[in-house]
Amino acid sequence: MPILPSARILAIETSCDETACAILENGRALLGSTVASQMDIHARYGGVFPEVASRQHVLSIIPVVEEALSKSHLTLNDIDAIAVTRGPGLAGSLVVGMNAAKGLALGMSLPLIGVNHLEGHLYSAWVHNAGESVPEEPQFPLMVLLVSGGHTELDLMTDHLTYKRLGSTLDDAAGEAFDKVARLLALPYPGGPSVQRAAEDGDPMRFNFPRAWLEGTWDFSFSGIKTAVLRETKAYETKGRSLPVPDLAASFQAAVVDVLFNKTMRAAREFKAKEIIVAGGVSANRALRQAFQNQKEFKVHIPPLWLCTDNAAMIAAAGYYRFALGHTSPLDMDVQPTWPLR
Ligand code: KG4
Ligand code: ZN
Repeated sequence: MPILPSARILAIETSCDETACAILENGRALLGSTVASQMDIHARYGGVFPEVASRQHVLSIIPVVEEALSKSHLTLNDIDAIAVTRGPGLAGSLVVGMNAAKGLALGMSLPLIGVNHLEGHLYSAWVHNAGESVPEEPQFPLMVLLVSGGHTELDLMTDHLTYKRLGSTLDDAAGEAFDKVARLLALPYPGGPSVQRAAEDGDPMRFNFPRAWLEGTWDFSFSGIKTAVLRETKAYETKGRSLPVPDLAASFQAAVVDVLFNKTMRAAREFKAKEIIVAGGVSANRALRQAFQNQKEFKVHIPPLWLCTDNAAMIAAAGYYRFALGHTSPLDMDVQPTWPLR
């Protein structure tokens, strides 16, 4: 590994419904970060409304960048490179962040770095607040479980920016399954936190929902369990009985966590990983965090809650390693709404 240069990266993230900007030093120390959530707006529609999201980014992007700089006590003159989420995500949302980043790079004559959103999520394991204790640096080879609203996959990370995708979901992402089950149980958007809250008072053993192990592969499938929850809710409705929402939520969550945790542990053993990273919005789930925290076989890096869901600090971290290792992007780069991690 070459000696890496010191650099301050300003990163922009607008892939979905958060407008975010952060400034990070040397790939790890977070100097300032702002996340403007559109959650309240989309809650009215029960999910993210793409056109509304893009227009909201247009309104928020400049104030968010200004606030992140002001929290860092820096100006654009103190920045060494601009990183931006290139994809995957909603095209119209990505375009807003991309154009803002290009404007900053062009105006300040700074290098521009396109970052894969999923790569950003896994680099959240490197981030810490400047001035606070520095968590141990993840050691390669790493087994990475990426669980977000749009993706669920297992990746083997053998070095910085070097991944082998072992498996991914064949249908719904884990976060998507949480969101869909929340709707079935009439729980509010966003679904993941709502299901977790409902599950706290529930019995995880009441319903034995199916686990799709997909033996012989590192793939996942969550549509079967979602259908099983639907079948159960219909049976209650037919009988005119009220839904046991906490038990349904707890049993669903237990089944999802069971598969995510056990497949990741098996993959870590099989590929002789030194440590594990769990990242993406679903890594905020308490039951999933507990499953990994309760085992002693592998050191597991799970970001603190504020870094699990979408933010720009993680994009700055991935952007730093891309910048330091010479992977900058041309000013005419396009967004990539579907861009698998490679
Ligand atoms: O990474 P993320 O913020 O956005 C994407 O890149 O997709 O992930 C959002 C997903 C949503 O599906 C949301 O329901 C889920 O993460 N999520 C959770 C929890 N917090 C967020 N799922 C389960 N339990 C949670 N506590
Ligand atoms: Zn995300």
